[in-house]
Amino acid sequence: MLKQEVTTKLYEQLNLECYSANLYLQMSAWCHNKSFEGISQFFKKQSQEERNHIYRIFDYLNETSTMPMLGAIEAPPFNFSSLPELINLAYEHEKNITNKIHRLVHIAMNLQDYSTFHFLQWYVAEQHKEEQIFLSILNKFKIIAIDNNGLFLIDQMINNL
Ligand code: FEO
Repeated sequence: MLKQEVTTKLYEQLNLECYSANLYLQMSAWCHNKSFEGISQFFKKQSQEERNHIYRIFDYLNETSTMPMLGAIEAPPFNFSSLPELINLAYEHEKNITNKIHRLVHIAMNLQDYSTFHFLQWYVAEQHKEEQIFLSILNKFKIIAIDNNGLFLIDQMINNL
């Protein structure tokens, strides 16, 4: 049985992962609407990955005899001023998620909940990977001119990530 503080934080994380899945699906829709079809596919895949993040926490809660609780999910933004702004927002979002995961790890360690501590290590590695992906895309904007040709090239490159 999980301690109450760990349960509360895992519920919060479950909700955040649901929000992430919706955020990336909405970003996929915006990209498709602006004819960035490669990036639209990329965000659709990211949304699917977030669903896997949901299921991992969902399963862990079930396995520890703690019924998963799904709360209200905030609506994601649906309008973005530009593609770089959208990618930057995704990057900042991932940094925020990383902070939440690290906080959870810290709580699990302080409470000597080593099972949850071990469970969270996958998320620590995953966040490292996700932050790196978005930072690498942001850096591409710095080396490729942001004109129509540059945006077309970036759309093609991200589709292949
Ligand atoms: Fe589930 Fe991208 O954090």
